Amino acid sequence: MLTEEQKKQIEIENGKINRALNNIENRIVVFSGKGGVGKTTVSINLACGLILKGHTAGILDADVTGPNVPKMLGVSEQLTTSDNRIIPQKKNGVEVVSLASMVPEEQAIIWRGPLRSKLLNQFIGDVEWGNLDFLIADLPPGTGDEVITMTTKLKPDMAIIVTTPQEVSLIDSKRAIAMAKKMEILNIGLVENMSGLFCPNCGCNIELFGKGGGSKQAKEMGVEFLGSLPIDIETRKAADEGYPIVLQNDSTDISNAMMKIVEMIENISVVGVNRPKVLIK
Ligand SMILES: Nc1ncnc2c1ncn2[C@@H]1O[C@H](COP(=O)(O)OP(=O)(O)OP(=O)(O)O)[C@@H](O)[C@H]1O
Ligand SMILES: [Mg+2]
Repeated sequence: MLTEEQKKQIEIENGKINRALNNIENRIVVFSGKGGVGKTTVSINLACGLILKGHTAGILDADVTGPNVPKMLGVSEQLTTSDNRIIPQKKNGVEVVSLASMVPEEQAIIWRGPLRSKLLNQFIGDVEWGNLDFLIADLPPGTGDEVITMTTKLKPDMAIIVTTPQEVSLIDSKRAIAMAKKMEILNIGLVENMSGLFCPNCGCNIELFGKGGGSKQAKEMGVEFLGSLPIDIETRKAADEGYPIVLQNDSTDISNAMMKIVEMIENISVVGVNRPKVLIK
């Protein structure tokens, strides 16, 4: 049973969240069943891709215990506040908020679910996001507290599920898609990452984790297939250096595939099973 004081706090918190959401046109959650499949890579490149297309975009790093967005986007400064409001950091045009910019790297973040959810509520309602065309939430793997909090509080228009083509990832992404459907997210898209590797010596394609499982799964589960991204060493290096591959203007297969996803997000997605909906009004 909640006390009157607790009810009042929740009401205040929800009011702040709703005010923030009123200024954010499109909200996207990026999640996966399995870890390490490329959610953060996809999130930072889509955000930068949206900026390249002339939109305003932000990333909310919702991976509380393993926040990687600042590192992969090249943000090294600490977050600041003004009048008790968190001011996002801006890098390459993208507004960013992450716990990594508040807690030293060597400090473990040992927080139980309710505390993690509370922080994410603050990352929506207590941040000066301003007017954004797109806010992308980069989530931790699985379907735990963070995903529940973000799918309920952020009220996303779209879920992007990232998987690799290998069986163990596809099994988990099936659950992630099922969750997105259960949370009634209208637009659900699947990205197959690490889909083949072109050998730099002989040019042959090495299917390290297999290939094609993502598009097959998307079809079977009635969600939009957003595309395949190859394994690309420059992409990994770019992420480590904090300068996302789409900004490098080199028209690689992976940059082109990322920009195609950006265009799909921009223009048309699906509502439920195959009904077109324009995301940008
Ligand atoms: N297509 C790719 N080609 C090469 N390297 C990639 C690709 N996608 C991701 N990586 C690299 O793989 C590693 C894991 O990617 P990333 O951190 O984006 O995954 P994640 O799903 O966000 O992981 P976590 O579950 O820990 O949050 C990173 O070092 C990243 O640079
Ligand atoms: Mg990540």
